[in-house]
Amino acid sequence: MKNKVAILYICTGNYVIFWENFYKSFSRHFLPGYQKKYFVFTESNDASLQTANDVRVIYQKKLGWPYDTLYRFRMFYSIDEQLKDFDYIFFFNANMICLQDIDDRILPNEQERLVVVKHPGFFDKDRSLFTYETNPQSLAYIPDDKGEYYFMGGFNGGIGKYYRELIKTLKENIDYDLQTNKLIAIWHDESHLNRYMLDRSPKILSPAYGYPEGVELPFEQKIIILDKNRFGGHNAMRGIEKNRPFIGKIKKILHFFKI
Ligand code: GAL
Repeated sequence: MKNKVAILYICTGNYVIFWENFYKSFSRHFLPGYQKKYFVFTESNDASLQTANDVRVIYQKKLGWPYDTLYRFRMFYSIDEQLKDFDYIFFFNANMICLQDIDDRILPNEQERLVVVKHPGFFDKDRSLFTYETNPQSLAYIPDDKGEYYFMGGFNGGIGKYYRELIKTLKENIDYDLQTNKLIAIWHDESHLNRYMLDRSPKILSPAYGYPEGVELPFEQKIIILDKNRFGGHNAMRGIEKNRPFIGKIKKILHFFKI
């Protein structure tokens, strides 16, 4: 039996529209032949979530921006017991689509333990432009003379045991920042992820694995990030504005990516 892989996925509120194509494309192309199980955090009853037996839905109401992203590790920690069963665990942003077969070369070895992706906006930028947390009071703080890469928060994972450690630590650090330090790091969970990687040597993937749709980058498109502007914009997706995206139009756009 091939290794067991847990995929963590959050699609509260409007983000549920991304699920169907995410699921189809990852089922087909991500670690083909591996035994995958999807843990989907949502409050939706959408039919697309109820059909497959490799999908477990965990009730999660929309928390509002930025808590939907900030509390992701708290959500994952709530199912820690279930995650113990898995050899590998990965998290993906809702609006990702896997376009090509991705095999076990992306898996970290025992030394690397974890896997992260270079942020598509910073892979070619000078360290001085990285958007690390610069407030020394935050547990996500990275001093000016530290840090070699800026990683995206939208795709990370690793060997189950080590990724569960990451989940617990980042949940605790984010809670401590909020409750004791009374602050939220500049890029929320992503800031804490970058701080966590500073003391570690994870496997590093190129932006081919987090390629923003509609942008020209010198990488293959292996996993693309759908442009939220085509779905009513970031604010509409995050539920900040009332103008809900027009679902029919969205379905048409998503149809384009059906594989
Ligand atoms: C943006 C991205 C954010 C965050 C930020 C970091 O391009 O949309 O989610 O990663 O970069 O500076």
